[in-house]
Amino acid sequence: MDSALGSGPRGRWFKSTRPDFQMDTNPTIIPLFSADVIARRVEELGVEIAEDYAGKNPLLVGVLKGAWVFMADLSRAITIPHQCDFIQVSSYGSGTESTGEVRFLTDISTPIAKRHVILVEDIVDTGLTLSNLVNRLKERNPASVAICSLLDKPERRKTSVHIDYLGFVIPNKFVIGYGVDWDEKFRHLPYIGYLEF
Ligand code: IMP
Ligand code: MG
Repeated sequence: MDSALGSGPRGRWFKSTRPDFQMDTNPTIIPLFSADVIARRVEELGVEIAEDYAGKNPLLVGVLKGAWVFMADLSRAITIPHQCDFIQVSSYGSGTESTGEVRFLTDISTPIAKRHVILVEDIVDTGLTLSNLVNRLKERNPASVAICSLLDKPERRKTSVHIDYLGFVIPNKFVIGYGVDWDEKFRHLPYIGYLEF
């Protein structure tokens, strides 16, 4: 667990005096990945993507809202020319269980015919959101569609999804932080933890 917490200034979140770093919230936040650990992994993903897409000018499509923090860091870790766009879908109400229903709230503004698209997600859980999204985007005849997800919760999968670039595999817990929310709370935390109710 020590290495997962990290040792740099950004990893010492548990000693911070910021009130939102104190884990006296209800529910309790149990740490999983520190800001340092996340930063190192995102850097590696960026290097991998830059190598694979050299000369291809890929389009990163971030899935709002959960992927916005990850997308910002990932884009800056990809050292080849690329563009960014966002799509917003909604698959959760205010609870912690997926409704299984995916609502498309905002579409990308970039035409993707013949483009190499990389969908950037926070978590693949049941897989329903991404499989829907991939099918929708493929109707527009992109050159390719790949998936980059920060987290993978394989125990809950309902439909198979191939994740091309993955940050971390996580247990079947409800996680928050680094863009990921519980009822719109905790998105701003620089680390990732899970909730214990
Ligand atoms: P899926 O369609 O079940 O694969 O999950 C879709 C979305 O649900 C993910 O991209 C997240 O935005 C959200 N989600 C899944 N698991 C969690 C979690 O543990 N915490 C917060 N959001 C989650
Ligand atoms: Mg998401």
